[in-house]
Amino acid sequence: MSAKKSVTVLGLGPMGRATVKILLEAGLDVTVWNRTPGKAEALAELGAAPAATVADAIAASDTVLLSLIHYDAMYGVLEQGPADLTGKTIVNLSSDSPANTAKGAAWVLDRGGRFLTGAYMTQSDDIRHPASHLYVSGPAELHDELRPLLELLCANVYLGPDYGLAQLYYQAGLAMFHAYLISLQQALAMIERGGGDIDTFLELSKDDADSQRDFSVYFAQAAKQGGWGDLASLKMMHAGAQHVIDTSEDAGTDAELTKTVQDYYQRALDATERTGAIVPVYQIIRGDNGNE
Ligand SMILES: NC(=O)c1ccc[n+]([C@@H]2O[C@H](COP(=O)([O-])OP(=O)(O)OC[C@H]3O[C@@H](n4cnc5c(N)ncnc54)[C@H](OP(=O)(O)O)[C@@H]3O)[C@@H](O)[C@H]2O)c1
Repeated sequence: MSAKKSVTVLGLGPMGRATVKILLEAGLDVTVWNRTPGKAEALAELGAAPAATVADAIAASDTVLLSLIHYDAMYGVLEQGPADLTGKTIVNLSSDSPANTAKGAAWVLDRGGRFLTGAYMTQSDDIRHPASHLYVSGPAELHDELRPLLELLCANVYLGPDYGLAQLYYQAGLAMFHAYLISLQQALAMIERGGGDIDTFLELSKDDADSQRDFSVYFAQAAKQGGWGDLASLKMMHAGAQHVIDTSEDAGTDAELTKTVQDYYQRALDATERTGAIVPVYQIIRGDNGNE
């Protein structure tokens, strides 16, 4: 059985289902399984082959894609299959920390299988969105072998042999994305409750991505030098955060995110005063808290 023609997908949440649909559209034989029954029927109508058991699903293909909520779920699922995974390649597309990923990879290797980490950097479950990427890490030759299959999903970015690397880059991206989504909703609530108009705000902020790109480059360069900010900048950012807090609270909206932001500047200012040298916020975040 060729790994390129037949594939198994374990886990049929939104990402697993979207993955299966793309593979079916590409003409592959796709065997599917999900812990909770009922999610495979719609995929069966599209041509997928539901397996009754994990063992059957794994037996059907040499390449097994996992799309589960976290790495812990992998153990309980794969333990329902064969103890010996020789001849099988597990590509885990689930999200987790690099450490949990490395542990999961070692677990599969111990059972004779091969392992590749995949992290979907996608627009929700819109895997074919032009901005989507699959971050991949693990043995380069294994990725070379599976690349024709994985590129069917979205553009691959191979990040290196360390199994955790794909997750490291993915989780760092998610750190920005999570904060962005909350800060966006904070801004929208301020506008709405403060007497502004959401559409006007959207129009005014539509080019923000361009300046964010410039800030990314500038702050990345600064990070390599220890971080951005002199004393005046730290004080200015602290005061600026207070203005956002006041505006939010006057409008009756939640300002907890900005209070957290302000706290970073407060800690940087405190550390600067304590040490007598400028301690940029980046050093606080990186874990150099200025205590030395
Ligand atoms: N959705 C997105 O936009 C997105 C984007 C990028 C990456 N991801 C990542 O892709 C992975 C899958 O995400 P998802 O959105 O499809 O949904 P999800 O809610 O993260 O995962 C759903 C899948 O995990 C299974 N599952 C949960 N706990 C389990 C357990 N203890 N044992 C066995 N199976 C278990 C579910 O089975 P049941 O149906 O039986 O509950 C279902 O198949 C996640 O790691 C997620 O972080 C998601």
